[in-house]
Amino acid sequence: MYLQIFTILASFGLCFASYLEETHFQTNHGRFMNPKYEQFGVMARTHRPSIAPSRSQKIVNVNDYGAKANDGQIDNEAFEKAWNETCSNGRVLVVPGNSVYHLKPIIFSGPCQRNTAIKIYGTIKAWPKISAYEEDRTLWIKFENVTNLIVNGGGSINGNGKIWWKNSCKVNESLPCKGAPTAMTFDGCNNLKLNNLKFKNAQQMHIRIQNCNNVWASNLIIRAPGDSPNTDGFHVTHSQNVLITNSIIGTGDDCISIVSGSKNIRATDIICGPGHGISIGSLGKDNSEAQVSNVEVNRATLTGSTNGVRIKTWQGGSGYAKNIKFLNIVMHNVSNPIIIDQNYCDQETECQEQDSAVQLSNVVYENIRGTSASEVAIKLECSKAVPCKGIHLQDVVLTPEGNDGTIAKCENVRYSNSGRFFPKCQP
Ligand SMILES: *[C@@H]1O[C@H](CO)[C@@H](O)[C@H](O)[C@H]1NC(C)=O
Ligand SMILES: *[C@@H]1O[C@H](CO)[C@@H](O)[C@H](O)[C@H]1NC(C)=O
Ligand SMILES: *[C@@H]1O[C@H](CO)[C@@H](O)[C@H](O)[C@H]1NC(C)=O
Ligand SMILES: *[C@@H]1O[C@H](CO)[C@@H](O)[C@H](O)[C@H]1NC(C)=O
Repeated sequence: MYLQIFTILASFGLCFASYLEETHFQTNHGRFMNPKYEQFGVMARTHRPSIAPSRSQKIVNVNDYGAKANDGQIDNEAFEKAWNETCSNGRVLVVPGNSVYHLKPIIFSGPCQRNTAIKIYGTIKAWPKISAYEEDRTLWIKFENVTNLIVNGGGSINGNGKIWWKNSCKVNESLPCKGAPTAMTFDGCNNLKLNNLKFKNAQQMHIRIQNCNNVWASNLIIRAPGDSPNTDGFHVTHSQNVLITNSIIGTGDDCISIVSGSKNIRATDIICGPGHGISIGSLGKDNSEAQVSNVEVNRATLTGSTNGVRIKTWQGGSGYAKNIKFLNIVMHNVSNPIIIDQNYCDQETECQEQDSAVQLSNVVYENIRGTSASEVAIKLECSKAVPCKGIHLQDVVLTPEGNDGTIAKCENVRYSNSGRFFPKCQP
């Protein structure tokens, strides 16, 4: 089963990749804005006549600006110079193949000329000294305020995260909690295409989409060990119109996490595991207000992850998460295949009961099948203060991976169901 799905995805991927090569960004962009976003899947597999990127677009090779592959020097200066040339003239920055370049924290800022692109054929590896990140510990590679950027090439971004994981308070409890860099942050982007890249062993998160509008991410492979702390794969915050598709993600935290300020987010054809699954949240931490709407996860396979599809909120928050669809999902030995946790508490001190919460409404689970590693295959643990409403389950069948049975635990939730529904909520 897994192999079959993998093969199908792989062939989508090939088709998709050639589409990307042949299609001009603006053509896509027009359709990307289409509010009837059911059409994305079709779009990805359709070859259309298109305006090809100009073949005469000039190349800016980082080697020509002093970058030295494979020798362990820091290449920031060369990359900055090359970026300045690329951005101010709308060129293509090229990171050559079969080469490893080292960067310490670096910011690529816009605005840039039209058609600015980056082709990463080789590997970009993080400089391993923690002291190089002191100015802002949350960043490694950041793109700021860049419009119409294309990043692709098939190469690798390696966060060299081991040293950071060892120093995480989640791994060694006697250390202070200080956080670690996100490997690649896109902040304030508009019309981003991020395609055909590998991300590996990020210091903390792999990809963070923040304050962005119109993002098309596809054919990404994101990998870190299952026990690496907080290494989320693809994180979306305060962004809208984001599509992530045809991607394989296995890390030590959420494969995909979608947090407050996010709207019109779609994840399709995702293979996830190991990791913590596909999550909305956490929301409402420190009594904050959350707003998340129109999220669709369609066609995902989760294997050996601690959660499948999850919504998590802290007590004491406010705002909403609404209009969420989880469709056509296959679970293989997932510990909490379907979970709403409105009493989420990921901190050292115990969380107190509070009388407000982020309101969850209109959440659809449709055609979700597979096996649960734990007895509780379905957990809808909603807020006592603000119960969930408009929850619908259709054709949800979760059987035990081993010999024990599965049960559903449902609290403070108003739900309906149709088609098959197993295990059912207990009275
Ligand atoms: C790149 O351009 C910025 C802004 O013009 C400038 O401040 C910076 O020094 C340039 N960097 C390099 C390495 O040339
Ligand atoms: C990016 O845009 C934001 C919002 O417009 C602005 O506050 C920030 O200074 C910009 N950053 C740069 C580097 O231009
Ligand atoms: C945890 O951190 C402490 C304090 O730095 C250190 O002495 C200890 O060796 C670390 N433990 C492990 C298992 O790395
Ligand atoms: C299923 O998951 C559990 C818990 O993660 C693990 O211990 C077990 O080995 C897994 N079983 C299979 C068949 O992979």
